[in-house]
Amino acid sequence: MGELIEKARMPIGVFDSGVGGISVLRELADLLPNENYIYFGDSKYAPYGTKTLEEVRRLTCADAEYLIRRGVKALVVACNTATSAAIGLLREMYREIPVIGIEPALKPAVLSKVNPTVLVMATPMTLKEEKFHNLMQRFQSQAEIIPLPCPGLVEFVERGELEGERLISCLSQLFFEYRNRNVDAVVLGCTHYPFVRGAIEQVLGPDTAVFDGGAGTARETKRQLLNAGLLHLSGEKGSVCFENSLGTGELTALCEKLFYS
Ligand code: DGL
Repeated sequence: MGELIEKARMPIGVFDSGVGGISVLRELADLLPNENYIYFGDSKYAPYGTKTLEEVRRLTCADAEYLIRRGVKALVVACNTATSAAIGLLREMYREIPVIGIEPALKPAVLSKVNPTVLVMATPMTLKEEKFHNLMQRFQSQAEIIPLPCPGLVEFVERGELEGERLISCLSQLFFEYRNRNVDAVVLGCTHYPFVRGAIEQVLGPDTAVFDGGAGTARETKRQLLNAGLLHLSGEKGSVCFENSLGTGELTALCEKLFYS
């Protein structure tokens, strides 16, 4: 019993290929404000979504191992790409702790309207992997689902370029083919994209609803911690520690900006 209380005090490890997972961390800190968090971003090797499956598996395992060594009671894979490539592997490696992944929020998008047209923005790897194909199959009869790989978009967020002409022009090109279609919903299937949500909404206009999976992942984390008896039941606000494989002060400043904005 005492051991469990001790364990509950340990931080939750959250990681991503870079700064994108901070969009999930924000949801976690909102829902579970008393928890302590260590956030690790692998910006040195971002983006993951255009690498080979083998490379992403290797990098993802290294990220997880780093956090395990820091001493965490749970792992949140705040990256759709890493989840698609390696969640099964991570769950096998770390059977003793909850390992929570993220997937594109397709279900709420499909259910938002009768027979909607839904664009799923994500990295090329997320859309190529079996996990997404299975998800798409589940909802295919209820919507027109269009996968939209967005190579290059992650880099804007990694640079902290969250608005401006270059971003709008990149998004306009990505959506060009669908400019005359009625797109009812867009799913942000990469954790970097919520940080450019304003620009996405600007290009798509007010009739397209935007969905992201961060809040669902935070709720799932809460459920799993509760089931494992690992929720930190303290009255005090928890702490957040940012770490990054690039290790520059500039990047820490970007992490803080993204988290507190
Ligand atoms: N943020 C990540 C995701 O959710 C990965 C972006 C990348 O590194 O390509 O897919």
